[in-house]
Amino acid sequence: MASSAHAIVIGNEKGGTGKSTTAMHIIVSLLHRGCRVGSVDLDARQGTLTRYVENRKATANRKGMALTWPAHLTVAASGDAEKDAQAFFGALEQLAPVNDFVVIDCPGHDHPLSRLGHNFADTLITPLNDSFIDLDNLADVEPESFAIRRPSRYAEMVWEEKKRRMLRDRGSIDWVVLRNRLSHLDARNKRRVGDVLERLAERIGYRVVPGLTERVIYRELFLDGLTLLDVMADGSGVDVTMSHLAARQELRDLMDSLNLEMPASAEAVTA
Ligand SMILES: Nc1ncnc2c1ncn2[C@@H]1O[C@H](COP(=O)(O)OP(=O)(O)OP(=O)(O)O)[C@@H](O)[C@H]1O
Ligand SMILES: [Mg+2]
Repeated sequence: MASSAHAIVIGNEKGGTGKSTTAMHIIVSLLHRGCRVGSVDLDARQGTLTRYVENRKATANRKGMALTWPAHLTVAASGDAEKDAQAFFGALEQLAPVNDFVVIDCPGHDHPLSRLGHNFADTLITPLNDSFIDLDNLADVEPESFAIRRPSRYAEMVWEEKKRRMLRDRGSIDWVVLRNRLSHLDARNKRRVGDVLERLAERIGYRVVPGLTERVIYRELFLDGLTLLDVMADGSGVDVTMSHLAARQELRDLMDSLNLEMPASAEAVTA
């Protein structure tokens, strides 16, 4: 990005893998660490992240909770790629100089705006549901040997944007794949998907980071615009369960694995 903020882009051409959920949890994690955060919703049609942020503001008003939220902008696709690009650049120009991070949520399908978003990623996070169907979105894999027949169109798109990025400003994209909705029960599937993901990593050009398990706490707080980090904060009055604690640890492991450079003003994670 032209100015100071580090861009974290959440993308996957497959729908429903947890992009917007991951985006909001990363945003709130960064806010809780005292970072200045901007966010951009490139999936205006669905608008999940936009609604998540709006719900958060409404909860702060309604319940008088001391919440912070990101400086949020939505860039809607108009059908005119040039106009959309200008709107995206305008959003970055507004957010990047005054924030430490800009988190960009992409739609779950190929679109010029999504490609542009990928091109501006310093960190690209691709959440993947824990199944071979989702893995197919990274590469076409031989069933016996797990040899790669060919990378997927999405993987090729990311390569393309990595090259363009390099040409544009010599910057690089740290591409991480995050396994989402991991099941507590299906240990065999979990291991097999995990093995194949690790084996594909070097060839396709990503690294695997700790994932999030399937938990109600990741989805039940959307209407209030909250995350588990908010309800676990002092004075919220919510009984903290083992599942809350485990989820918080998962989130911390994820955040640590992103190797983000924290601004000097950021607070150390204690509790
Ligand atoms: N770790 C999780 N545990 C439980 N539910 C989850 C988890 N991650 C996501 N979900 C749920 O899965 C669904 C899809 O999540 P989300 O909307 O974040 O995906 P998405 O990739 O942004 O989808 P789209 O491609 O449509 O934009 C939602 O109902 C969300 O609440
Ligand atoms: Mg979404």
